[in-house]
Amino acid sequence: YSRAEVAQHRTPGERVWVTYGTDVFDVTDFVELHPGGPDKILLAAGGALEPFWALYAVHSQPHVLELLRDYKVGELSPEDTAPPAGDAQDPFAGDPPRHPALRVNSLKPFNAEPPPELLTQSFLTPNELFFTRNHLPVPAVEPGSYRLRVQGPGGRVLSLSLAELRQRFPKHEVTATLQCAGNRRSEMSRVRPVKGLPWDIGAISTARWGGARLRDVLLAAGFGDKSDEDGEWHVCFEGLDVDASGTPYGASIPLKRALSADAEVLLAYEMNGQELPRDHGFPVRALVPGVVGARSVKWLRSVVVSPSESQSHWQQNDYKGFCPSVDWDSVDFRSAPAIQELPVQSAITEPRPGAAVPAGELTVKGYAWSGGGREVVRVDVSLDGGRIHQL
Ligand code: MTE
Repeated sequence: YSRAEVAQHRTPGERVWVTYGTDVFDVTDFVELHPGGPDKILLAAGGALEPFWALYAVHSQPHVLELLRDYKVGELSPEDTAPPAGDAQDPFAGDPPRHPALRVNSLKPFNAEPPPELLTQSFLTPNELFFTRNHLPVPAVEPGSYRLRVQGPGGRVLSLSLAELRQRFPKHEVTATLQCAGNRRSEMSRVRPVKGLPWDIGAISTARWGGARLRDVLLAAGFGDKSDEDGEWHVCFEGLDVDASGTPYGASIPLKRALSADAEVLLAYEMNGQELPRDHGFPVRALVPGVVGARSVKWLRSVVVSPSESQSHWQQNDYKGFCPSVDWDSVDFRSAPAIQELPVQSAITEPRPGAAVPAGELTVKGYAWSGGGREVVRVDVSLDGGRIHQL
């Protein structure tokens, strides 16, 4: 069989096929027997099992392979066993491979979120399933020659290799949730159309991040606390990802937050105990807990302290909030501040809207989170005429 033929078998109605190695299996009769639930095995329908088994280690036992063998219906044709060749003209051809469970909102640039039921499978989101928000192609960074440029007072420059960032500054770890400002936009669009990617409820994920504190690096570059008389200063970040004109992604945060030990702003090089994956900023990203994801600049190339905010498009003309009477014809981006901390957010991941559920006791899963380090005190769920509402 070709991979395209296998991909046509995604539901019990059209039979559920999966591949493992070069073997093809029809697991339709096993779907209801799957110990992890039918919805989880259906995530792999029409494609390879390996990426899912790599995430959920219970599968790496001999009896699982034995069980699978009973469902074999054939093999992949030899010309379909090699990965497809890339296109040299395509600026996105060098993007990394992604996990097939991700729900893709845009392929180029890559923007994708985990399916809701996998998001609440574990408190820390596995790196492979962590939502990805890219505006541009993923840069290919050679870690040996990577340097982070930190501009100190009076234009002095501190240039740090990856090894220096790791060795000169104590490693600090923080568990933090990143959320894109567009999370749940598809629900907003049901109220009134909103421009932008149609994110469902998964543009939010949690990881344990490790890296140097931005505070420590700024102090080493010669910065200390500014007095309030100097006005509000900012730390401007630039990424190594550039658009067709060579302009990089950029954003800024207030210097006060960057210097605050409590805010735990990192120059992160680790995510859930592994080096940063390419999609999430390899080798170094800013990580600003409690603040809109847009400020956690990936593939970080420079850090500059400045009396004004980043002049980047994404700081000045995007990621701002307006009242409902403002539209794309009347918007004046200068009239609103750049979003930093985000407000409270919550969503139900299981069951999904419209899903049939059995009568009686029901387990409802979801997440609740608040920006700026504020706690979630309570989550209220109400049942009204058979509909679940989260308050
Ligand atoms: N940094 C760079 N260099 N380029 C980007 O496109 N996207 C930002 C931010 N940092 C972006 C970036 C946005 S809008 C978000 S929400 C987060 O990265 C997403 O981080 P993630 O892809 O690791 O989830």
